[in-house]
Amino acid sequence: MSLTKITVETIGAMKTRGEKIAALTAYDFPMTKLLDEAGIPFIHVGDSLGMVVLGYPDTTHVTMSDMEHHTRAAARAKPRALLGADMPYRSYETPADAVTNAKRLAAAGAEFVKAEGGRGIIGQVRAIIAAGIPFCGHLGMLPQHVVEEGGYHVKGKKEPEHEALLEDAKALAEAGAFAIVLELVTPPVARELTQTLPIPTIGIGSGPDCDGQILVTSDLIGTFPWFTPRFVKPRANCAAAIKTAVIDWKNSLV
Ligand code: KIV
Repeated sequence: MSLTKITVETIGAMKTRGEKIAALTAYDFPMTKLLDEAGIPFIHVGDSLGMVVLGYPDTTHVTMSDMEHHTRAAARAKPRALLGADMPYRSYETPADAVTNAKRLAAAGAEFVKAEGGRGIIGQVRAIIAAGIPFCGHLGMLPQHVVEEGGYHVKGKKEPEHEALLEDAKALAEAGAFAIVLELVTPPVARELTQTLPIPTIGIGSGPDCDGQILVTSDLIGTFPWFTPRFVKPRANCAAAIKTAVIDWKNSLV
C-alpha cells in the first residue's frame, strides 16, 4: 500500500481490486494513531462510543456534542486512514438538519459521515452529498432503532426484509453513497448485495463475503469485557492486561 492519504476513492478502488477493507472504530487520539500505524485504512468514530466509552445502554443517548468532541480527538491524530463519524440519533430528521449536523462533524474532522437507513432518509443522504460531504450508508440492524425493535435482530431472513434491503441499498448507491455498512444481515443477502452493488459493502456480523469488515475495536481487543457480540472473536484481552499491570504496581508500593 502506498503512503498517500486514503480517500473514499481509495476505498472504492479496493473493492474493484478485490482487496478486503479492514475497518475499525476509534473514539480518541491514541487509538486512532495506533490503528493508523497498524495500516487500517478506514477508521470510524462510531456512535457505539455511547456504550463502550460513555457507559450508556445503547446509542440513542449520544448527542451531536459527544460526536464532535470524540471526532475532534480522533482527527488530531491526522490519520492517513479515511476518518468517518456517525450522525447520532435524531440528528438527521430532515434534509436541513442532516446538512447542518454533517457540516458540524466535517468541521470537527470527519472526512465522511454515516447515518442509519435507506429510502426513508434518501432526501437527507442526497442533501449531505450535495453539500460536498461523502456519505456511508448503514443497513440491516439499525442500532439507533434498538429500543423500538426490542433488541439486535438479524435482518434479511424473510423475503420482505430481503427485498427491502436490496431496494434500500440500490437507493443509497444511486444517491451517491460511497460505501454501505451491513449490520447483522444474513450472510447470503450480504453476499448478494456485495455482488450486485457498485460500491463497497462493509459487514459487521454479516458473514465473510462483504467487501470489508468493521468491528468495534473494544470488542476486538477486549477493553469492554462486560459484553462481546457473539460474532466477534477477540484477538486480545486488554482488560485482563490492564488489571494485571495495575495490581502489580499497587503491590509494588508495599
Ligand atoms: O457505531 C458504530 O461503531 C458503528 C460501526 C461498528 C459500524 O456503526
